Amino acid sequence: MCGIVGYVGPQEATPIILNGLMRLEYRGYDSAGIAVIDAQGAIHVRRSVGKLAELEHLVAQQPLAGTVGIGHTRWATHGVPAARNAHPHVGMNGRVVLVHNGIVENYLPLRAELEAEGIQFASETDTEVIVQLVERYLESGCSLETAVRRALGHLTGAHGVVLMTGDEPDRLVAARIGHAGGVTLGVGEGEMFIASDLPAVLRHTRRMVFLEPGQMAVVEADRYRVTTLAGEPVPAEEQVVSWDPVSAAKGAYERFMKKEIHEQVEALTATIGGRLDLEAGRVFLPTLPLTDDAARDLTRLFTVACGTSYYSGLAGKYMIESLARLPVEVAYGSEFRYTDPIIDRSTALLAITQSGETVDTLVSMEEGRRRGARLWSIVNAIGSQAMRIADGYIGMQAGPEIGVASTKAFTTSLADQYLLALYLAAKRGTLSATEIRARANDLLALPRLVSQVLAQDETIRQLAIRLARYRNFLYIGRGINFPVALEGALKLKEISYIHAEGYPAGEMKHGPIALIDEQMPVVAIVTQDRVYEKMLSQVEQAKARGGLVVALANEGDQTIAEKADYVVTVPVAPPLLAPIVNVVPLQLLAYHMATWLGLDVDQPRNLAKSVTVE
Ligand code: M6R
Repeated sequence: MCGIVGYVGPQEATPIILNGLMRLEYRGYDSAGIAVIDAQGAIHVRRSVGKLAELEHLVAQQPLAGTVGIGHTRWATHGVPAARNAHPHVGMNGRVVLVHNGIVENYLPLRAELEAEGIQFASETDTEVIVQLVERYLESGCSLETAVRRALGHLTGAHGVVLMTGDEPDRLVAARIGHAGGVTLGVGEGEMFIASDLPAVLRHTRRMVFLEPGQMAVVEADRYRVTTLAGEPVPAEEQVVSWDPVSAAKGAYERFMKKEIHEQVEALTATIGGRLDLEAGRVFLPTLPLTDDAARDLTRLFTVACGTSYYSGLAGKYMIESLARLPVEVAYGSEFRYTDPIIDRSTALLAITQSGETVDTLVSMEEGRRRGARLWSIVNAIGSQAMRIADGYIGMQAGPEIGVASTKAFTTSLADQYLLALYLAAKRGTLSATEIRARANDLLALPRLVSQVLAQDETIRQLAIRLARYRNFLYIGRGINFPVALEGALKLKEISYIHAEGYPAGEMKHGPIALIDEQMPVVAIVTQDRVYEKMLSQVEQAKARGGLVVALANEGDQTIAEKADYVVTVPVAPPLLAPIVNVVPLQLLAYHMATWLGLDVDQPRNLAKSVTVE
């Protein structure tokens, strides 16, 4: 979950690394550090607790000079946020430094073994055993590459690491084991970059090499070499990525989350664009090849995902079952492998993941592979693991999502599931070309509908100011809008720290209605669909118990206007696509409540953007 940056080249490393860390701060922000090798081969380290600004302040007071360096922004797992636990970690004799992403599962016995040899530890982290092991091998005469290879052989767990030593001051050694987040080499002209995520290096280069699990790289300014952990050479495959540095920056917006909410119009346009042939009534998904026979043979789809992506999967189930008539089960990535799922070759497993690096989702994909499923993914991060290991994938086309609270990945992944549903429907013969054309037209109207919601930003901000004093919220919806209620509640709790629960509206009477009083606002999704009347009655029930009701309703709905305390209007959308429109005001509501409360919406406490630990 931590962010890693490395640089080797002719320029001063410090500003490049600090800038890279700034672009990765969403990965972890409880402490940060940087190490640089100077012209004499001496390593200098600066570490500080708190956000990156603290490190920048420290570096301004105690500058670093050198053209080779590594940096890290931390999300604590072992050891409290403190300067001593921040990375880079240094070997006891100061010969080697390391930044690490992952968990050393067997660190306790390794630490005991090293301490018995007289090695003194300076932190409480699991990470430090790696650097001490590497230094031990360096002291026995190994090169850095060999020392890293041997040290990694002791570890269990998943890891991404970058190391450097003053003995070989012209190079960095990077490695990846398992799914602990990516390690990407950025190939420049006479300089090389290393990063856990693309935004850290996009302003320097778009030529990338993605290390696979079980690979390591020796990186110098004008060359790099990729091998397996066993030392076998691997032909490195360079990819030119389409993301640009502008889309990974805040631009005119104060916060990434606001920018990303507003980017949904163009993100949806990009997601849908080029994938529909309206005349022929066809959907193109060239990166997800499937024969008609294979599509007809499918008996079940498992969707696996976490957090917002899981809620997207819950809504996508309605789309795929309704249009393609394929049964869908949706599972949490963190739970899937404990369910003994019934999978065979007629089963497809669809992973939905913005980052493509969420370890629970990746492990579920592995489980699906092991049991013989066809593996698909819907993924945003280009070159990520979930994209690479799938048999077929659909790109979200959302562009970089930096705000920790996921927004545009929710709506674009829903559009992708709708495209997948139409694609499967055509191949399975459950919809005619005429029906697909009509559904495709519905999809094309989405960017316009979303832009109509965004135009109400200020109205929603005013409402948010009124609501920000409450400490508990209920979000309710029925049918395909139940996942929207879950997502609305998640948005609120993760960035405002206000307790919010999403509930299927019909379940209220089976218990949660007891919670309702004048201190418990109820956000009810009451758009006009087949459960509209039932939702109206749910609103009545909440009002009868003194609840304050905020209704999300379609424009011109007088009935709800008379019943609810506040109404947020959304344009009418086709029922299966309504979640894409209905979630947008809930994103804005959460955003404005949190900013009104003075909170850091882009980097909420305790969270990190990519969850690369189990
Ligand atoms: O990158 P992924 O889509 O796999 O991430 C899944 C969740 O960690 C993510 O959606 C998380 O719940 C967000 N903070 C929600 O806003």
